[in-house]
Amino acid sequence: MSRGRFIALEGGEGVGKSTQARLLGTALEARGIAVVATREPGGTDGAEAIRELLLHSPGGGWNARAEALLFAAARSDHVEKLIRPALVEGKWVVCDRFVDSSRAYQGGAGGLGDDAIVALHDRGSEGLRPDLTVLLDTDPATAGARLAERDRGASDAIGGRDASYHAEVADTFRKLAEADPDGFRIVDAAGSPEVVHIRVMNAVAPLLATVR
Ligand code: TYD
Repeated sequence: MSRGRFIALEGGEGVGKSTQARLLGTALEARGIAVVATREPGGTDGAEAIRELLLHSPGGGWNARAEALLFAAARSDHVEKLIRPALVEGKWVVCDRFVDSSRAYQGGAGGLGDDAIVALHDRGSEGLRPDLTVLLDTDPATAGARLAERDRGASDAIGGRDASYHAEVADTFRKLAEADPDGFRIVDAAGSPEVVHIRVMNAVAPLLATVR
């Protein structure tokens, strides 16, 4: 059996990743592909428990290094127990956020730097990379409006950080994508979910072509 494919959807808050991950999973299944849809932080019982610690941090929050370590620990569990076994079984994994979120949030906006995050990922998850990372990119005003609709003022510990933090996240995502054009596709996230879905399918078309 051939190895499955690993697709991550990335982007800042309110760009519609979760909706697009769901639409992508459904479209792949309609093509007869076995899909495992998952998310980060989370995806396994242990990683979901760490998600709670991260997003609703007890005692006033984590320092930047502790935060990065917790994301890396959650990812390590997720990769070992869910993602790698699914790929070995020939399934396609569609993941709502992966290591590039840590590179953009903790590495870029959090100030730890890319090398530190990549080193943690090498140690925790043997450096597993998606076959393709789809970066959903939109202007801050559109994302802000979608977010207000979704969260209705109840954002989590990281989503609730200030606009300059989120601007740095968006900027780092773009730089990562531009530096690795083989690994990333940048998709314009403006427009209806259906229109954006068509763009996402165009972005993953080369991967689909490898299995036909
Ligand atoms: P989530 O509710 O999944 O956010 P969204 O719907 O916007 O994807 O919460 C995940 C939060 O955790 C989000 O603010 C991004 C942040 N995050 C990091 O800071 N680093 C990471 O490595 C990951 C996976 C997420």
